[in-house]
Amino acid sequence: MPLRVAVLGAGTMGNGIAQVFAQGGHTVTLRDVDAGALDRAMGQVDKSLAKLAEKGKLSADDRSAALGRIRATTSIEDVAAADLVIEAVVENLQIKTQVFGELDRLTRPEAILASNTSSISITKLGAATRRPEKVIGMHFMNPVPLMALVEVIRGQATSDETMRTVMDLSRALGKTPVEVNDFPGFVANRVLMPMINEAVFAVYEGVAKPEAIDQVMKLGMNHPMGPLTLADFIGLDVCLAILEVLHDGLGDPKYRPCPLLRRMVDAGWLGRKSGRGFYSYA
Ligand SMILES: NC(=O)c1ccc[n+]([C@@H]2O[C@H](COP(=O)([O-])OP(=O)(O)OC[C@H]3O[C@@H](n4cnc5c(N)ncnc54)[C@H](O)[C@@H]3O)[C@@H](O)[C@H]2O)c1
Repeated sequence: MPLRVAVLGAGTMGNGIAQVFAQGGHTVTLRDVDAGALDRAMGQVDKSLAKLAEKGKLSADDRSAALGRIRATTSIEDVAAADLVIEAVVENLQIKTQVFGELDRLTRPEAILASNTSSISITKLGAATRRPEKVIGMHFMNPVPLMALVEVIRGQATSDETMRTVMDLSRALGKTPVEVNDFPGFVANRVLMPMINEAVFAVYEGVAKPEAIDQVMKLGMNHPMGPLTLADFIGLDVCLAILEVLHDGLGDPKYRPCPLLRRMVDAGWLGRKSGRGFYSYA
């Protein structure tokens, strides 16, 4: 049955999540605080749907129908009728906690509140609401329309029913959901980020240039993309935020973010989205 879905945050992830739900036949309200981000997101969805149509993976009718199911807004009140909310705002505990409190007050009590967080505690987000049994992690991978995995995270109080609904819904979207428990970084980033951080340390210590490090991992380990190319793709600010959560949450110095990563974020070199990171994207 088509759902009324609200997606909060129209950045790198939000536009892809909105697209996938719209392609799945659901109506989507895409909300951002920044009108410019909404314009860019709608442009990105249009481009991505066009590419799928070109490749013969989507008919012309389905393409325009999917686009027509997404409504962009800056008004938080527009999410009130949603059956399911996917939060994809910046990776910041304080902001996400505030957003979950607001969503809890605004939406119907039976609505499921999901977060696309990469690392932040689903249990903490649940505790910011009066319905922690309906709060869950729905962690999509970038780029969302192309990547099969959804890491589904069970918080301390998430109910079996909420888990089942989100696992079934992910399958209906054509994704493969994998259930994991709520610990910092879950599985994906607990394993991925130490590798990215180590690659940044290798640059920092002059072991090799970024191109060389990426080439070693691509050709030697058969990774489709080197770790520094991937870091630029994810966003260096997002990588730093996830490493901070791992470092604070697990208390182990092995997760200490590399000072070079910090300095690049301070400089505004955030990777692909800012035009510069380990590589230049002029
Ligand atoms: N980038 C990735 O590869 C990736 C992968 C998986 C998960 N994630 C997670 O997805 C989330 C979003 O990451 P992103 O890379 O899309 O970030 P981003 O910086 O590209 O976009 C975040 C968007 O949120 C908006 N925003 C900020 N506060 C808001 C609010 N209160 N309400 C609505 N919108 C608000 C910003 O204006 C911005 O457009 C984060 O939790 C991140 O950890 C990112």
